[in-house]
Amino acid sequence: NAPNVILAIESSCDETSAAIVCDGQVQSNIIATQKVHEQYGGVVPELASRAHLQHIVPVVDQAIKTAGIAKDAITAVAFTQAPGLIGSLLVGSGFAKAFAQSLNVPLIAVHHMQAHVLAHWIEDPKPAFPFLCLTVSGGHTQIVLCRSHLDMEIIGETLDDAAGEAFDKIAKMLQLPYPGGPLVDKYAKTGNPERFAFPIPEIREYDFSFSGIKTSVLYFLQKQVKENPEFVAENLADICASVQHTIVKTLMKKLEKAARHLKIKEIGIAGGVSANSGLRAALEAYGAKNGWKVYLPKFEYCTDNAAMIGITAYYKMLLQQFTDLSAVPSARTQW
Ligand code: KG4
Ligand code: ZN
Repeated sequence: NAPNVILAIESSCDETSAAIVCDGQVQSNIIATQKVHEQYGGVVPELASRAHLQHIVPVVDQAIKTAGIAKDAITAVAFTQAPGLIGSLLVGSGFAKAFAQSLNVPLIAVHHMQAHVLAHWIEDPKPAFPFLCLTVSGGHTQIVLCRSHLDMEIIGETLDDAAGEAFDKIAKMLQLPYPGGPLVDKYAKTGNPERFAFPIPEIREYDFSFSGIKTSVLYFLQKQVKENPEFVAENLADICASVQHTIVKTLMKKLEKAARHLKIKEIGIAGGVSANSGLRAALEAYGAKNGWKVYLPKFEYCTDNAAMIGITAYYKMLLQQFTDLSAVPSARTQW
């Protein structure tokens, strides 16, 4: 049998990425991060779409070259259909359709949040089912119950801001450049997480809320800066460590509650915020305490990447879940 060679495209936000996945093995994963947004303190949708247009051809070329395959060895083209910025999604989906059409191969539409979870199937060790995944990114915070690769149910989610959004917005209050999440993580490493206390919200079941934490940090900083204009500069590490500690604890409490109620011991984290060192350490610690088998994606597969789109497409292909040229991207859709 000829191998299944999937070209996967990810363009939902500010990363243009292409990957080649051959019989479920990632052969290349090229990611072009858009620098243009830094000066604006957040992703500017119009600029993101334009940057995707500039990056997509060279990124796809490089993915094919790195994998060492011929273009006509590709047997299917996959793309992120939802959710994301609509202009960004249109660039990736339009490119994928044209490419599939020119090679006369089928198309596979992938849900970005499902792909973040399936990033755990890129490399060994792979989780066993049922698997419980905390998916935390810039736009989403979800606890996902996975019964099989493509049978997933969101059992809890944020009622307002996403965890990554909370990291980024609080970083902005601290005058750190966008995206601030990784910088909060960096400064937190030398800070005292118990120095400042922020409230952990009480929300029903397995849901989350981060707007309260954001507001309490804002009021706290306003009060402190009034008394001492140098407060942030003098206490940056302790503020970052305390904020990170609060966000991580908020996330882990709900994950632990869900794991206990559902009696699941295969537990993972996914999405951009799963790169956070505090969250990774907390997952290990809660795992040791509760007898979980824990799964941490490699850094390369935490933030947005096309390898996770390709691996999801591989499982969809095994079930013959193809889409046709009429597929339209969507900013918000459930899988
Ligand atoms: O999954 P992702 O790349 O894009 C979305 O689908 O949203 O996640 C990006 C988010 C941003 O909010 C970014 O600040 C956050 O992930 N992030 C982190 C870290 N690395 C990325 N947050 C905290 N600590 C990190 N080390
Ligand atoms: Zn993402």
